[in-house]
Amino acid sequence: MRPRLGPTLGVLIASLACAPSPATSVEPTAAGAGVEASASPERRSVRPGVNDRYFEDGAVERWTDTLERERREVIALRDPIVAALELEPGMVVADIGAGTGAFMSALSAGVGETGTVYAVDIVPAFLDHLRARAETEGLTKVEVVEATPTAVGLADASVDLMFMCDVYHHIEYPSVYVRSLYEALRPEGRLIIVEFDRIPGETSAKMMKHVRQDQATLVAEVTAEGFVLEREIEDVPFDENYMLVFRK
Ligand SMILES: C[S@@+](CC[C@H](N)C(=O)[O-])C[C@H]1O[C@@H](n2cnc3c(N)ncnc32)[C@H](O)[C@@H]1O
Repeated sequence: MRPRLGPTLGVLIASLACAPSPATSVEPTAAGAGVEASASPERRSVRPGVNDRYFEDGAVERWTDTLERERREVIALRDPIVAALELEPGMVVADIGAGTGAFMSALSAGVGETGTVYAVDIVPAFLDHLRARAETEGLTKVEVVEATPTAVGLADASVDLMFMCDVYHHIEYPSVYVRSLYEALRPEGRLIIVEFDRIPGETSAKMMKHVRQDQATLVAEVTAEGFVLEREIEDVPFDENYMLVFRK
């Protein structure tokens, strides 16, 4: 299990005032089409090209293999992760960056017949796959939603809980996108983020390169858009990830 954070939340939050600002880069990617190159800094991609591989031919098959392999940490820990979401029948839950749908069935079971699961992604082939998979698996409460890199595509104040699993480092425009998440949450709604650690000396070189932000940077970015960090979930035995609960 990874070592837990030492500081209390208060100390952690106070320390965020000194957190480095996220790296900004210059050009939007194809996936960010429609975002002007001359736009304000918050409308410039912080990680151009990070989603390009998802748009390639054959991505559904390739990424199903990669994202749903049993030895992937969040798949091995899928049950305790979903239990930690504290789902209740009737809830409206959004799986932000649903990918190939690894969590779709478990989320559907958690909200029951009276709930709704929005499976949200930006990749058209994933969206088609999610629709087909929901039908095949009889997940009648799943609605597939197309986001853009800058907006989640959900109605204002329409969701009780947003879940993002290993997605945050794929968000190219964190400031405007997180604001759109905030607007789509109901008052008192929760945003729960599972994300890769990025700890020099502990995280692999590959993941240090792939994941742009560390935990403090993520928290600083998310709280800058109005969310309040409520707690870190400590009882899921992660080695490579952490899990944070934010409140609107
Ligand atoms: C590493 S995959 C994780 C998929 C899934 N959450 C899982 O854990 O299996 C990242 C996903 O985020 C999606 N994504 C990237 N930017 C997004 C955005 N702005 N809004 C919604 N989904 C996005 C990608 O298309 C991809 O499906």
